[in-house]
Amino acid sequence: MTERFLGEACPAELLDEGEKLSADELKARQLAGLRTTVRAAYENVPHYRAALDGAGFAPDDLKSFDDLSRLPFTTKQDLRDNYPFGMFAVPRSEVVRVHASSGTTGRPTVVGYTRADIDNWANLIARSIRAAGGRAGDVCHVAYGYGLFTGGLGAHYGAERLGCTVVPVSGGMTERQVDLIRDFGARIIMVTPSYFLSIVDEMVARGMDPRETSLRVGIFGAEPWTEQMRTEVESRTGMHAVDIYGLSEVMGPGVAQECVETKDGLHIWEDHFYPEIIDPVTGEVLPDGEVGELVFTTLTKQAFPVLRYRTRDLTRLLPGTARPGMRRMEKITGRTDDMMIVRGVNVFPTQIEEQLLLVEGLTPHYLCILTRPQRLDELTVQVEAAPDLPTSSYASAASALSRRVKDRVGVTAAVEVLPPHALERSLGKAKRIRDDRPR
Ligand code: DLL
Repeated sequence: MTERFLGEACPAELLDEGEKLSADELKARQLAGLRTTVRAAYENVPHYRAALDGAGFAPDDLKSFDDLSRLPFTTKQDLRDNYPFGMFAVPRSEVVRVHASSGTTGRPTVVGYTRADIDNWANLIARSIRAAGGRAGDVCHVAYGYGLFTGGLGAHYGAERLGCTVVPVSGGMTERQVDLIRDFGARIIMVTPSYFLSIVDEMVARGMDPRETSLRVGIFGAEPWTEQMRTEVESRTGMHAVDIYGLSEVMGPGVAQECVETKDGLHIWEDHFYPEIIDPVTGEVLPDGEVGELVFTTLTKQAFPVLRYRTRDLTRLLPGTARPGMRRMEKITGRTDDMMIVRGVNVFPTQIEEQLLLVEGLTPHYLCILTRPQRLDELTVQVEAAPDLPTSSYASAASALSRRVKDRVGVTAAVEVLPPHALERSLGKAKRIRDDRPR
């Protein structure tokens, strides 16, 4: 069996060149990257040329980081309007891969990579896995979906680059996931936190002790998850649970990564991505430390550069710790689109998750349902009971959660405690909101 891993820091000699840059070196590199990116976008992407011309901004106007705030934002709608390849900054023949989002509403968004982009991405994922405690020689089980979604292939190339033995399982066939983890002795698992819980449930259903597997580190992302969820996963499994963040428009997973020794938010790989936080309503740039919408400008991408891309993710920027040169982002609270407004109070599913994990006998399998029976929106939280919670205790668990949500979050929510496995499980990103309000 693999030795217990205490979560110690990555030794300095394993850090890559970018991680070791001094503050001044990083700044210089970022500014050079910004200038190159703005120029390439202006010269090669009609959308950016029009947007910059419209703002009266010439690429040579970019002299300092402050000038960035004069550039227009890029949104998902801009990507849709230029479907499929209109935002590429290189000839299509130089694009060696595309990924795309499913596009539940409207057209999918398509992103592209040159060979150098793919190479860079692999390096950043290798850096991320290392920061999470993975090492060359580890068996790395990749249960993010493979395909147009960036999770599977992104993780895969990076784990190979680090020198791991990659098990490319993708999502689904949960029983087989458990067999493979056991038989191949995976030390690292890369998967959405919600799907990992299904894998752990499957282990328990088979009479396995999740604390006795070879797994030591879970690299969890693609959806919001809370500190309470970390505590839950770590105590059930004895592993380290660390956060990985990214989005296809900016690259895919590996834009930011939490370091296992601190677990205090995610270091943004600032040698490749320049972050800003803005007020989501006014677009005004906010100082570090204030919560707002995360915006990224890429510094090194060739095929698909983005200028001030609005992620819709809410967080704040904090100074670096385990990687002192790079800033951290706090765990994402949610997306602006996932904000529920219940009787005037703003609520995110993560706030409900925080509370339900503090109620004995409830599990983090939950769904928020919005309805509008009369004129006002109402929130119902459906949550599964733990297998050992007697049915006779469901009502008291429900009122305990309802009270907590009222006291701590400030909204009235009806809570329905359901038996185990009553809610649909996702194989990738969990759906936490169902909107049943009349259109
Ligand atoms: O989810 C990329 C990814 C794959 C990241 C695997 C991490 C691991 P998209 O499908 O484009 O790409 O979705 C991006 O997912 O804007 C966030 O809203 C959300 N998201 C991603 N990582 C996290 C995270 C991938 N660690 C969107 N915490 C982003 C919270 C996350 N939300």
